[in-house]
Amino acid sequence: SRPRVWVSQPLFDDIVARLGEHFEVGATAQVTVWSPAQVAAKLRGCDGAVVTLNERIGTAEIVQASSLRAIANVGVGYDNLDVEALRARGIVASNTPDVLTETTADMGFALLMAAARRITEGERWLRDGRWTQWSFDTLLGSDVHGSTLGILGMGRIGQAIARRGAHGFGMRVLYHNRSRLPERIERNSRAARVDFDTLLRESDHLVLVLPYSPATRHVIDSTALAKMKPTATLTNIARGGLIDEAALADALASGRLASAALDVFEGEPAVDPRLLALDNVVLTPHVGSASLATRRAMAELAVDNLVAALGHGPRAGDPPTPIAGTIPGKDTAK
Ligand code: GLV
Ligand code: GLV
Repeated sequence: SRPRVWVSQPLFDDIVARLGEHFEVGATAQVTVWSPAQVAAKLRGCDGAVVTLNERIGTAEIVQASSLRAIANVGVGYDNLDVEALRARGIVASNTPDVLTETTADMGFALLMAAARRITEGERWLRDGRWTQWSFDTLLGSDVHGSTLGILGMGRIGQAIARRGAHGFGMRVLYHNRSRLPERIERNSRAARVDFDTLLRESDHLVLVLPYSPATRHVIDSTALAKMKPTATLTNIARGGLIDEAALADALASGRLASAALDVFEGEPAVDPRLLALDNVVLTPHVGSASLATRRAMAELAVDNLVAALGHGPRAGDPPTPIAGTIPGKDTAK
């Protein structure tokens, strides 16, 4: 009989249908909150699965899935996967890098600008009927052009944000990363590597684009926030757990930090009520890669990855192709 695969959430029907050329497909028609036990039950008897960041997959979820050979994560971040546990059982894990880089960088820049220029705060103010007359000092923000852009985690998305800042807005670009980038890339994104403290102290606009792991949890805590300029903005498009949200709420409430823009939250979809109550924070529901074209490209790539990992080519009868987004074994936090 044909191999079985599970698709944990609705993607695009025409793209998911491609799996049907090779496999018995257990698709999911509606957005579903799966419990760990349900994930384990779904994986049992499957050869492969396409999953999203909602589904955590570790030892408990795979221990009874004796035929499982491949997990294709739709998304670039894969902190939802216990990569060591998967590798120990010979299960190939993949993600969807590259196809979402520019779209996610656009979102990072949009959030940075929204925080700097108080765009969502202004819209709420207008909709609340508080605009009685144009006035000189309404909603004064900070400049983006010509300022210092700081990037924590200079991967592909970080580099794409750096290019926008340097070439589009004349920004000075600083980054902090475990390792220095090749000079060619530094030149291309006009970025200079600095230590973490210097990044915090000198950035006018700091953007987090760092993979999340236990080692990077709360890298932005009260100590880090205290080193930032009081006029600075902080944007997070990576994972919520990078920030100590209680410390951030304190800093925003007390004016020690001008504003923040958050697309991701430690307990998402729950958002800290203290953040919800603040005016100087822009909040979006984890939509960094959410353009139609990019979400289609991500679904295509995840399907390609799963098909290839299970030993097939893109179409029935084609030879297997290499997997574009194979996840390396070790944690890749930068
Ligand atoms: C989404 O957050 C992703 O990692 O692609
Ligand atoms: C993350 O790995 C990125 O693409 O920046």
